[in-house]
Amino acid sequence: MTRIKLVIVPPEEFGRMASDYIANRIIDFHDRRPMNIGTATGGTMEGIYGSLIERARRDDALANALQTVNYFAMDEYVGLDGDHPQSYAYFMRSRLLEPAAVSTSRLQLPNKENVEPAPGAGGCISMYDQMMTDCGGIDLQLAGIGTNGHVAFNEPGTSRDSWTRRVLLSESTISANSRYFSDPSEVPREAYSIGIATIMRAERVVLFASGKNKASALERMIRGRPGDDCPASVLTLHPNCTVFMDWEAASKLRPY
Ligand code: PGA
Repeated sequence: MTRIKLVIVPPEEFGRMASDYIANRIIDFHDRRPMNIGTATGGTMEGIYGSLIERARRDDALANALQTVNYFAMDEYVGLDGDHPQSYAYFMRSRLLEPAAVSTSRLQLPNKENVEPAPGAGGCISMYDQMMTDCGGIDLQLAGIGTNGHVAFNEPGTSRDSWTRRVLLSESTISANSRYFSDPSEVPREAYSIGIATIMRAERVVLFASGKNKASALERMIRGRPGDDCPASVLTLHPNCTVFMDWEAASKLRPY
C-alpha cells in the first residue's frame, strides 16, 4: 500500500499553490540550519519558480529564507557549459537565484568531476551524493516527471540503487527537450543525473506535474506497481512523498 500523499488543484491555481507549498516548507525550516533543497528544472518548475519569486517580492520571511538555502541541482547536460542558455546551471540562475538575489555560490550541480565515486564511501556513491550528506542531507527534493516516467534523467530501466552518475538520455526525452533548442541535433544525448537512491534518501520529496500530457505517466506511477520501467513509481515507496498535480495531470487517476 502506497503512503504517498496526493494534492490535486485547479490548473489555474497550480503555480501559486505549488510555490506556496515550497515556500511554507522553506519558511518552516528557517532557523534550524541552512536548508538543503534538491532542485528540478523544466517547464513545470519554471512556472513554479516564477510564482515563488512573485511571493518572495512581498514576503520578507521567504525572501530571507531563500538566501540561506543550499541548492543542489538534480541534473545537468553533458557538454553544455554553465553560460549556455539551455544548461541547467543557466536555468537555475536565471529562473530562481538571480531574481531572488541569492548568491550563485549556493548552487551545486552534478558535473564531470563530482559524479566520480566518493573515495572511501564504497560502492558507487558519488562525490556529489557525498556533498549532500556532508551538508546534512537533502531536506526537500523537488522533482518533475517525464511523459515516459523519468524523474531527473533517470530514464526507464534505471535501477532504484542508482546514485549520481553520467547517463544516456532516451529518445523520448531528447524529443521532448528539443523544443528548447533551435535544432534538434543540438540536444545533448547525455547528462549527469542524481539517482533514484539519491532521491530516496531525501527527507521529503515533492513531485510536481501539470497538464494532460503527464496523465498517463502519473497513472503508471501511482496506480502501477513500483518498477524500474517507470522510475518515478519507485518514489511511491518513499516515506514522505507528495505528488502535487493539477486536474488535467490527475485525469487518469480514479478512486480505488
Ligand atoms: P517538464 O519536464 O516540466 O518540462 O514537462 C519535466 C521532466 O521531464 O522531468
